[in-house]
Amino acid sequence: MRVLVAGATGQVGQGLLEACAEAGADAPSVVALVRRRQRASLTASEQVVGDVGVPQWGVSDGELAALGEIDAVLNLAGVTDWTAGHATLDGINVLGAVHGMAVAERLGQLRGAPVPYLSASSVFVAGLQDGNVPEEPLPAETDRTPYELSKWYAERAVSARAARSGHPVLVARIGGAVGNSRTGRTTRRSSLYQLVSARDDKRLPVLPTRPGARVDTLPRNILGATLLRLLGHGRRQGFAAWHGGMTVQVAAGEQAPTLAAMLTQLDALDEGSRYRVPVPLPVPAGVLTAVTRVGTRYVRWSRQAGNRLQGLRYVAVDRIFERSRLAALTGGWLPAAELDTILRVTFDLPIRAPVTASTELPMGRFV
Ligand SMILES: NC(=O)c1ccc[n+]([C@@H]2O[C@H](COP(=O)([O-])OP(=O)(O)OC[C@H]3O[C@@H](n4cnc5c(N)ncnc54)[C@H](OP(=O)(O)O)[C@@H]3O)[C@@H](O)[C@H]2O)c1
Repeated sequence: MRVLVAGATGQVGQGLLEACAEAGADAPSVVALVRRRQRASLTASEQVVGDVGVPQWGVSDGELAALGEIDAVLNLAGVTDWTAGHATLDGINVLGAVHGMAVAERLGQLRGAPVPYLSASSVFVAGLQDGNVPEEPLPAETDRTPYELSKWYAERAVSARAARSGHPVLVARIGGAVGNSRTGRTTRRSSLYQLVSARDDKRLPVLPTRPGARVDTLPRNILGATLLRLLGHGRRQGFAAWHGGMTVQVAAGEQAPTLAAMLTQLDALDEGSRYRVPVPLPVPAGVLTAVTRVGTRYVRWSRQAGNRLQGLRYVAVDRIFERSRLAALTGGWLPAAELDTILRVTFDLPIRAPVTASTELPMGRFV
């Protein structure tokens, strides 16, 4: 399989390339669409220069034809600075997703058979919706930040176009990404990390949160492995389930730990040496909305403070991102990671070597 991937240098894109390396010979070969210039550091087999913000990702028909056989197009590019303005967010997140679909359609015309399109969305299109979040288009009426709105508009535009044309399209709503589960490598720190202060910080150590809030994060290579499963299973089924557009949630779902459990475990793992672990402070839903709105709409904060306040939305809501369709579209496989692994990767704590049984140990006996 050969896939064209935009966003290969980002957190999710790096996770995909790491998953490809882990899969070895079974992995698809990746043609990376990179911005401005080729990247020496990228482990993709080929690179093409383009820009998702312009029609057909800035790649001419001649360049597309020269790519040769492409079995799927993946859009993992996006603006993930939550304090960015509407124009920037819409220009890349909304138009980039739509232009990517045009690339897949054009490649299909050149090849004479549809080329499936997978576009990365975010579980956070749900805004502050609590409870069970379905793998379905979500209603317009909920509180959303400009970033969340841009992902929601992108979903709606891509899904509507797929429904009209019948093109095989998968909108993959991705949950929070942390670094690689084996190496800890990461391009940036997660929302939870940004909300936990260093040991010597004098800030009030509380986190306003809904009771029972969950933190849905997975290591990036596991997210990447899930995307590979979706592609692999999809291909074996002729991408039948993707025709006309389909939405899945690539997340920890019902396995996601509560914020309270994570903070308790972090305190135990860290042993009080690096972090001042905050205490969850239960607040009504309206307070959470007001606090995070102040950070997004009414006051101009620094980029760091604005992202921190918005990040609160991603750790403080009591909800489960459903994933029964994810299971169906991967052939029954669901992503998972141990809480210890997630915490060690998120907080840059030493990653323990896996425990292996020693052959020299005597066998236990039951008497
Ligand atoms: N990370 C998460 O926790 C998370 C969670 C849910 C959903 N997502 C979604 O997953 C996708 C990827 O997120 P990420 O966290 O991997 O983002 P990221 O780390 O910020 O990386 C963004 C990627 O997009 C590329 N890009 C940005 N503008 C571009 C343009 N105009 N043309 C071509 N490439 C461009 C960047 O390339 P350069 O190297 O040129 O900057 C980079 O590869 C996004 O759609 C995001 O909404 C991410």
